This record gives sequence, structure tokens and C-alpha cells, in this order.
Amino acid sequence: MFVGFSTYFEVIIVTNQSEFTEAIKRAKLEKSDAIVGFVATMGALHEGHMSLIEVAKNQCDIVVCSIFVNPAQFNNPEDLATYPRDVEVDQKLLIENNCDILLLPSVEAVYPDGIQPYSIDLDGLDEGMEGTFRPGHFKGVCMVVERFLRMVTPDKAYFGLKDYQQLAIIRKMVAIRNLPTEVVGVAIKRAENGLALSSRNALLSPEKLEKAAHIHKTLLSGLEFSKSNKDAVAIKKHIEAGFEDTEMEIEYVAIVHNDTLAPVEVVDSNATVCIVVFSGKVRLLDNMQFSSVLDIEN
Ligand code: PAF
Repeated sequence: MFVGFSTYFEVIIVTNQSEFTEAIKRAKLEKSDAIVGFVATMGALHEGHMSLIEVAKNQCDIVVCSIFVNPAQFNNPEDLATYPRDVEVDQKLLIENNCDILLLPSVEAVYPDGIQPYSIDLDGLDEGMEGTFRPGHFKGVCMVVERFLRMVTPDKAYFGLKDYQQLAIIRKMVAIRNLPTEVVGVAIKRAENGLALSSRNALLSPEKLEKAAHIHKTLLSGLEFSKSNKDAVAIKKHIEAGFEDTEMEIEYVAIVHNDTLAPVEVVDSNATVCIVVFSGKVRLLDNMQFSSVLDIEN
């Protein structure tokens, strides 16, 4: 009898390739051509992840979710050590949201030979923004996502638009490696006050959480400003000024082309503004596409 994986109420939990292969075989017994959707996460699940699962559920027959805090993508050991983890709460959420298979591998299962150098030419997509401030980060992301996509071979994989650069890079990696998976981007899920949902929000005090709503407000104000001034430098300055006298510190504001991620000088509806700010030690990302205001204008 196969005893390699356990069922936690409704979710089948697997920890390595052979358990996964067995679980997906069983899951496909009734429908051999079932469409498989995959949501990769690092845990500390929230409504943002649930929106990925919801979209996956709507488009696929079987939804596989992974929880793996990938050491290869952290360039700051303190960030890795303090990354929020609560697998029990995560499992409950996955059950409530009808995830079918949970992939919960150890570091050794993902990297049996240790973390080896990973080579990929991302055509410059990894050079600006996060690439500047988190050297090596995207190599680590591509390495783990490639491993998971090869393990799960999903028809579709879902990633949030909140990590805008990551999504573009994953699309590129999938194309370069010729993987048979469609990458689907899912809209940013925001709290009522506008703050983009993120696992890192769990590290903020209630007061800081409230104040972090300012990020979204300032981006909205930048977009509004772009209706009368399309100069990227002026829009950046406008956004930066919005953080004066706040307790948050900007790491970068970048206005880039939606697809190439190259900085633009003049914005149009093909541009996106990406921002990272620190609230204390917590690093918060957000972005907004100018099409949301400029398309309406035209
Ligand atoms: O966005 C994340 O949570 C991670 O970068 C990902 C895609 C799960 C890879 O570890």
C-alpha cells in the first residue's frame, strides 16, 4: 500500500517528487485530461494568495499549491530568518479554499545537490529595480520556480501582479526553458485601506499597517498627476515628495515599460510605476499601471 503522503482533512500533502507523482496520478483517476493549476508560495498565506487559488480553481480541475521558503532567493540572511512562517494556519486556509494538493518539500528535497549556480540570460529584465537592490534574487526565484514547474508540470501557473518584475521574469524563464506551462498574472489584492496584501504585512504593528496605506494613496496621486504631466522624472518626484514627513523610507521608485521593464522618460498607457518602501525594517512593494488612468483619458 502506498503510504508516502498524508491527507490533512481534505488537502493531500506531499513532500517530494515521487509522492507528488503518485498524488497527481490518483487525482487524475476520474479525469485523465484534468487541467492542473499551480500556485507557488512561500507560505504566510493571506487573501492575496487565496485570490490566486480562486482564479486557479475557476480555470483548472486540480489545484496544486506549494509552500517553500526558498533560501536561494534571499540575499539577506536576516530577511530569511525573520520571514513569517505558520504552516498550520496555512494548511487550514488551503483546506478552506479547496486546494487539492499541497507540496511541502524540505530544502533537501528541492535542492538535493545543494544550491548550485544557476545560469539564465533574462535579457536585462533582472537588472533594474529588485535586481539592483537584491542581487541574485531573481536567479534564486527562477531556479526554484523552474524546479517546481518541472516537478508539477502544470497546465497553468498563477503569480501575483504585485511582484511585477518577478512575473515578467518568470514568463521569460518559462519561454527560454520552453516549459509547457501558461503563466497567468493575477491582479493585486488590496486591504480595505488600499495596502497591497503581502506576507510581510504580518511583520507590521497595527499602527504601521494603517500608515502603510499611504503607499497606495501616493501611487494613486502619482497616476492622477500623470494626467497633466507625463514626464517620468516629474511623476517620480511627485511620488517621492508624498513620502516626506512619513516614517517610511523609499528604496526606489521606478517608472518602466510594462513588458521590457526599461525605464521610460514619458509615460503612456504602457508604463507601470513600481515602488519599494521600508516601514522600519519591513520592505514593502507595490505598483500600478498607468493604463488604469490613461486609457480612460483617451
Ligand atoms: O512570490 C513568491 O512568493 C516567491 O518568489 C515564489 C514565486 C513562490 C518563489 O519562491
